[in-house]
Amino acid sequence: MKLAFIGAGRVGGALAVRLAEAGHSVVLAETKDGSSSLAQTLARSSKLRAAPIRDAVSGAEVVFLATPFAANEGIVVPLADALAGKILVDCTNPVGAGLSHGLESKRSGSEAVQALVPKTRVVKAFSIYGFENFEDPAYPGYGVKAAMLFCGDDAAAKTTVATLIADVGFEPVDVGALVQALHLEHMTLLWVRMVRGRGASPNIVWGALRR
Ligand SMILES: NC(=O)c1ccc[n+]([C@@H]2O[C@H](COP(=O)([O-])OP(=O)(O)OC[C@H]3O[C@@H](n4cnc5c(N)ncnc54)[C@H](OP(=O)(O)O)[C@@H]3O)[C@@H](O)[C@H]2O)c1
Repeated sequence: MKLAFIGAGRVGGALAVRLAEAGHSVVLAETKDGSSSLAQTLARSSKLRAAPIRDAVSGAEVVFLATPFAANEGIVVPLADALAGKILVDCTNPVGAGLSHGLESKRSGSEAVQALVPKTRVVKAFSIYGFENFEDPAYPGYGVKAAMLFCGDDAAAKTTVATLIADVGFEPVDVGALVQALHLEHMTLLWVRMVRGRGASPNIVWGALRR
């Protein structure tokens, strides 16, 4: 699949490397001159390449958004035409003061992104754990894979993203429409408060047990 990454830092870099190594065609969008994260991520895999942001987005079937939430509007609005019809995987989280919800829990960040680019099919995924688990999602010995919860309004887009989630190494768990993103963002805050806030190990994920 042809993938583009806007944001090649801890999250974008980890996912770009894993998906390129899994056989996808991955392009890192050049968002600014002299980006150190872009250069560092490019150096991690010979399978990655970089391109100007509009070219990267135009050539992709699926675009990953892995930037600081506050930067999202300035990035996606000028690209609205190039993003129209495409799948946008929103990995971003609005985080406010004191590790609170950055939009005061009134609306999810993903719905805010969707409102900025209404012709784009936004799917929230790869947001509920720290990047350490995107670098290495393996938890051997449990008989289940780490669960990656995701949501979105477009069924076909979610089927595609589920494939990518599995390719990274997680079990995809569809939790419903994009309105569920607010609850995923609170799951993120739970994980972040446990790990970043209280110093617990980042090597902790959720598993989906079924019967
Ligand atoms: N860190 C985590 O464990 C984690 C886990 C899940 C989700 N998230 C969410 O994922 C998003 C990215 O987090 P991260 O930890 O990967 O951040 P990061 O390591 O700081 O990387 C951010 C990336 O966005 C780029 N960027 C920053 N400002 C930009 C702008 N105004 N325009 C264009 N590109 C810009 C950066 O480029 P430069 O390097 O050139 O500045 C970098 O490539 C955030 O929304 C975060 O809440 C983080």
